[in-house]
Amino acid sequence: MVIAIDGPAGAGKSSVARAVAAALGFTYLDTGAMYRCVGLAAAQRGVAPEQIADQLTIELGERVLLDGVDVTEAIRTPEASEGASRAAAEPTVRRAMVAQQQRIVADGDWVAEGRDIGTVVAPDAALKIFLTASAQERARRRAAQIGADVATVLAEQTIRDERDTTREHDPLAPAADAVELDTTGLSLEDVVARVTALVADRKES
Ligand code: DC
Repeated sequence: MVIAIDGPAGAGKSSVARAVAAALGFTYLDTGAMYRCVGLAAAQRGVAPEQIADQLTIELGERVLLDGVDVTEAIRTPEASEGASRAAAEPTVRRAMVAQQQRIVADGDWVAEGRDIGTVVAPDAALKIFLTASAQERARRRAAQIGADVATVLAEQTIRDERDTTREHDPLAPAADAVELDTTGLSLEDVVARVTALVADRKES
């Protein structure tokens, strides 16, 4: 079974997806980490992301390994976020990542987090959640996470949001059958409780 959790940066997807996976005993899949690895590898090698996307070995788990090298922290810098967003706009990169993601979730129980899980990667997902929060709230959360100031994060976030939602290939948008959940002002526990209740409903029906 696949639970799809999509939405913009800072809506709380990672925390929610991890907690929901733990609560249900499912495995968590962070698809953003894969685009981050492609962006990082491209920057390190000075090549375009579409040239190398299908040559990389990306291992996701407690630590993120890129061709065997631990890049868990390196993929979270502001430069890496920018590189990931650029890589994610390339159709060749998306094709390579989506193919890997579909192989990964083909067996077992997954909570997969990203932008296009419910629309492209797993259109038959048992439950699709589209998490949102106000731009201010998302920037505030991310700033607290990475120890940066809110105004800078908000400015960079606005540019990335614009690119992620207006790109030609698989732009960020909720699936027609997604449940939209605005997490502004909600605690992590509240959101996780709502999602696990929705999963229980789907299992019954
Ligand atoms: O979720 P994140 O911030 O780690 O994602 C990094 C970038 O990759 C971000 O610009 C959105 C993009 N992305 C995507 O286009 N599709 C996904 N399934 C996951 C992430």
